[in-house]
Amino acid sequence: MCERYVFVVVLLAVVTSFVSDCSAKIAPDFIHPCNSTEPACLIKATIDAIPGFAKGLPSLGVPSLDPFVIDELPIQLPGIKVTFYEGKVTGLKKCEVLNVEAYLEKNVFILEVRCNITIKGKYTAVGRLLLFPINGEGDCKIKIVNSIIKLNIKTKYFKDTENRDHFGIKSYRYTFDYGEKIIYTITNLFKGNPELSNTVLQFLNENWRVVTEEFGKPVVDYALNVTVSTAKKFFDAVPYDELLYVPIPKY
Ligand SMILES: *[C@@H]1O[C@H](CO)[C@@H](O)[C@H](O)[C@H]1NC(C)=O
Ligand SMILES: *[C@@H]1O[C@H](CO)[C@@H](O)[C@H](O)[C@H]1NC(C)=O
Ligand SMILES: *[C@@H]1O[C@H](CO)[C@@H](O)[C@H](O)[C@H]1NC(C)=O
Repeated sequence: MCERYVFVVVLLAVVTSFVSDCSAKIAPDFIHPCNSTEPACLIKATIDAIPGFAKGLPSLGVPSLDPFVIDELPIQLPGIKVTFYEGKVTGLKKCEVLNVEAYLEKNVFILEVRCNITIKGKYTAVGRLLLFPINGEGDCKIKIVNSIIKLNIKTKYFKDTENRDHFGIKSYRYTFDYGEKIIYTITNLFKGNPELSNTVLQFLNENWRVVTEEFGKPVVDYALNVTVSTAKKFFDAVPYDELLYVPIPKY
């Protein structure tokens, strides 16, 4: 009799803890939901969230953004094929937040940040560069100083299998202002010819703006694609009502 009573109490305790686990908060502690969509609050909440978010949340299936790894990225430019590989991008967790706006009814979310980004890795380059035939292979580092990224995201809402609302990302566009300066450090542009390699590298750095317009866009496209798909994973995992304490619009 007594044993059966103990068994029921234990069972109840297990069930209770299981139920409370189910309704437990999913959002990590660095998420500080706003009570309105006032930009001042959204900016503060974004500043609070960036370092933890950039580090990645393995338990929620959200990979790290700082550093993030580029296994291999082929870039076809006029006359030259560059392959960037074993790359590592750092700096996103220190981005300065300039503006955040959310229009819940219109499904628009705007984010503007200023970042110093370093991209480091290995490359091969085959083709022609400034009239010279090139067959380079070596290390490269790109340092982007004070670039400004404006992201305009078209959002949507959806329900998960437990009927909880979530933010979704339908599409996005961006502008990228390359900022004050980009510093290229590239070794061995011309195999076996360090003088020519250095001369051309110097030229690339003196003309960084033109060079970056050609070369930078595919890298930035790739980086933002990774960033947005990472945000998507986060929104898939964490319900709307843990991100924003504003009633969700009808959808
Ligand atoms: C939202 O309102 C609650 C309750 O009034 C308050 O405790 C909390 O600090 C507010 N959050 C923000 C980010 O202002
Ligand atoms: C980027 O680096 C420059 C020069 O080191 C520094 O002055 C600036 O404050 C940095 N910007 C950000 C957004 O961290
Ligand atoms: C962005 O990534 C997705 C997969 O996450 C891929 O299907 C898509 O082609 C990529 N878009 C660009 C522009 O690279």
